[in-house]
Amino acid sequence: MAMLQPVLPFLLLLLLPAAGRPCPGGRTRVFILAGQSNMSGRGGATNGTWDGVVPPECAPSPRISRFSPALRWEEAREPLHAGIDVGNVLGVGPGMPFAHAVLAAAGVGPAAVGLVPCAQGGTPLANWTRGTELYERMVTRARAALDGCGGGAELAAVLWYQGETDAMSREDAELYQGRMETLVRDVRRDLGRPDLLVIEVGIATAQYNGKYLSEVREAQKAVTRTVPNVRYVDAMGLPIASDKTHLTTEAQVQLGNMLAKSYLETL
Ligand SMILES: *[C@@H]1O[C@H](CO)[C@@H](O)[C@H](O)[C@H]1NC(C)=O
Ligand SMILES: *[C@@H]1O[C@H](CO)[C@@H](O)[C@H](O)[C@H]1NC(C)=O
Ligand SMILES: *[C@@H]1O[C@H](CO)[C@@H](O)[C@H](O)[C@H]1NC(C)=O
Repeated sequence: MAMLQPVLPFLLLLLLPAAGRPCPGGRTRVFILAGQSNMSGRGGATNGTWDGVVPPECAPSPRISRFSPALRWEEAREPLHAGIDVGNVLGVGPGMPFAHAVLAAAGVGPAAVGLVPCAQGGTPLANWTRGTELYERMVTRARAALDGCGGGAELAAVLWYQGETDAMSREDAELYQGRMETLVRDVRRDLGRPDLLVIEVGIATAQYNGKYLSEVREAQKAVTRTVPNVRYVDAMGLPIASDKTHLTTEAQVQLGNMLAKSYLETL
């Protein structure tokens, strides 16, 4: 017993992973945010540092929580992927404006939104297959986020914005559709939600001017036909920052609104 004592407080901490901020109660909808840099967010951060500009659509709210890297619910604030998308300069992404727009939907919107950031910049889809570090991190975080709500929350959707890296390689572009179909099925099975909604963002540009942008976009669209309950919103045409790569803050606000509209149409 005496030997166990130093370990006990640590064990208790493990048992209380969500003790930071209580999960905001009934009718909370939880969303997984996954993919690469534009999901994580580089709005205002394309020049070596983040400019710190947070428009009202991305401001903190008592009704929006994020699941932290330490597996605790806490108040969500930009940059939402802090501590998750490691090794990159982070800025504004689509998560906060998405949450605000969902909460603003009179009558149909939930009482509170919980965001589970999981994106990692520069990652091809091959980095997200079942058993990889990123896949397991995503599933582990999603499970812990829901456990931390003690049944008071429901997993609502996966928001997925990824594929720019795959557009650099013919092989990855050709394999994209099959890999994405498998990913959706695996996530649904591992989270016990065979019908879980997935909203894919159609990529707007390829990383390093990759040649296979249209192939990846076609693959993304094809998945909406081959797998039920997969929706598609198109990032093509949204303003791109001066790095010619990432979405601006303004574009991320637009994208958040588009994702919210797509989600709300399913209610
Ligand atoms: C880059 O960042 C610096 C420091 O924050 C800022 O003064 C400068 O205006 C930025 N340049 C561009 C092109 O955004
Ligand atoms: C992506 O996959 C490559 C090849 O397996 C691996 O070396 C790399 O560490 C992975 N990156 C991440 C972020 O998981
Ligand atoms: C998004 O992110 C990748 C890098 O991760 C980038 O190369 C791509 O061009 C980006 N932009 C858009 C608008 O999809």
